[in-house]
Amino acid sequence: MTETPTSPTRTTPDQLSVPPDGRPYREQPQWRNDFPIDWPQDEFVARREFTKFLVLTSFAFAFGQMWIVFQNFLRKRKGEPPIMRIAKAEAIPVGGSHVFDYPGPHDNCIVVRTGHQTYYAYNQKCTHLSCAVVPDIANAQFHCPCHNGFFEMRTGIPTAGPPRRPLERILLEIRGEDLYAIGTVVKA
Ligand code: FES
Repeated sequence: MTETPTSPTRTTPDQLSVPPDGRPYREQPQWRNDFPIDWPQDEFVARREFTKFLVLTSFAFAFGQMWIVFQNFLRKRKGEPPIMRIAKAEAIPVGGSHVFDYPGPHDNCIVVRTGHQTYYAYNQKCTHLSCAVVPDIANAQFHCPCHNGFFEMRTGIPTAGPPRRPLERILLEIRGEDLYAIGTVVKA
């Protein structure tokens, strides 16, 4: 005759609270009787908490996106550049760069990451005759290959060659894990 566990009663094989050796509870060590672990119930609570977490984070994300759409609506009315997500901040490695379009679809820009929390972004258009500048991160500068123009990476100010005006700077902000363009600065 098969013995059945005495406390708590478990009948189905997939209920994990049945003692692992299959022996009845009265033959189990005292601690197991004192602290029976109801794994199915525990997993149920964990799943419920996880679902709650997903719903809340989805709501926060949706609200965040709607807020950006609303802000951009107001900015457009005022003639200001939009707020636009560029990339995940960590997706750009230190010493790396990433090209994007801002504020319009044909405004080529570049963001470089020079340190853990240090990013610089500019319109790629050289202020001499509009060639695309390329980053030279090791020397903290941008180079324009057309006529050998150079710009300081930290400020966008021209340092050598024919350009006389700084690069158009893109203002950045990190929101959560993402890097956003939030405006432009054109220096005289
Ligand atoms: S176009 Fe860049 S230096 Fe002339």
